[in-house]
Amino acid sequence: MSRILLAPSILSADFARLGDAVAAAERGGADLIHVDVMDGHFVPNITIGPPVVKSLKKVATVPLDVHLMITDPDRYIGAFAEAGASMISVHVEVLPHLHRTIHAIKALGAKAGVVLNPSTPVVDISEVAADVDFVLVMSVNPGFGGQSFIPRSESKVAEVRALLDSAGNKALVEIDGGIDMKTVSRVVKAGARMLVAGNAIFGTSDPERAARELKAAATAAL
Ligand code: DX5
Ligand code: ZN
Repeated sequence: MSRILLAPSILSADFARLGDAVAAAERGGADLIHVDVMDGHFVPNITIGPPVVKSLKKVATVPLDVHLMITDPDRYIGAFAEAGASMISVHVEVLPHLHRTIHAIKALGAKAGVVLNPSTPVVDISEVAADVDFVLVMSVNPGFGGQSFIPRSESKVAEVRALLDSAGNKALVEIDGGIDMKTVSRVVKAGARMLVAGNAIFGTSDPERAARELKAAATAAL
């Protein structure tokens, strides 16, 4: 039974004080820092690019988990890897040559993840189940922090776990969207081991404490 990896999402942090946000998350037990990259095309919001990742890399002591919500990830994976992304995840919805992209990310020295939107079926990753380093299940429609968890995501996590197991792949399942003290144990029981949380951590007055409590609740559900 693998342990819980907590990945606080800085999307809900104060962008003028990202270094402080990373430090607080790390003091609270963050295992990764989740970085949400949005291009205003794939999702209706725009966030950050490689220069910010490069600056985060200088202050973070844990790996950066970079979630690309962009229409043309092939064009940018090199820049994000060079900026310091240890993990790069790409959406299956925009990639006709997903197998090639996964191996391109690995060739850059980063862990390769594939992401499923809530409306995307698990079967869409069946042919790459042996190739991926992790799978990210979106439990909200991507674009914004602070949205409500979509309950159907729970069985989807279990379905992805079963697919990876059948491929003999120990890759972890990550979940992203609406993870808080109410939803965390359900997704852990379903098989999620990497937990992204933005609003539940940075939407509070004490992110360090919120991270610590969320990770403890997740670990208790193992
Ligand atoms: C949503 C992003 C998430 C977001 C999660 O598009 O991919 O990583 O920050 O935020 P919460 O935890 O607030 O749902
Ligand atoms: Zn994300």
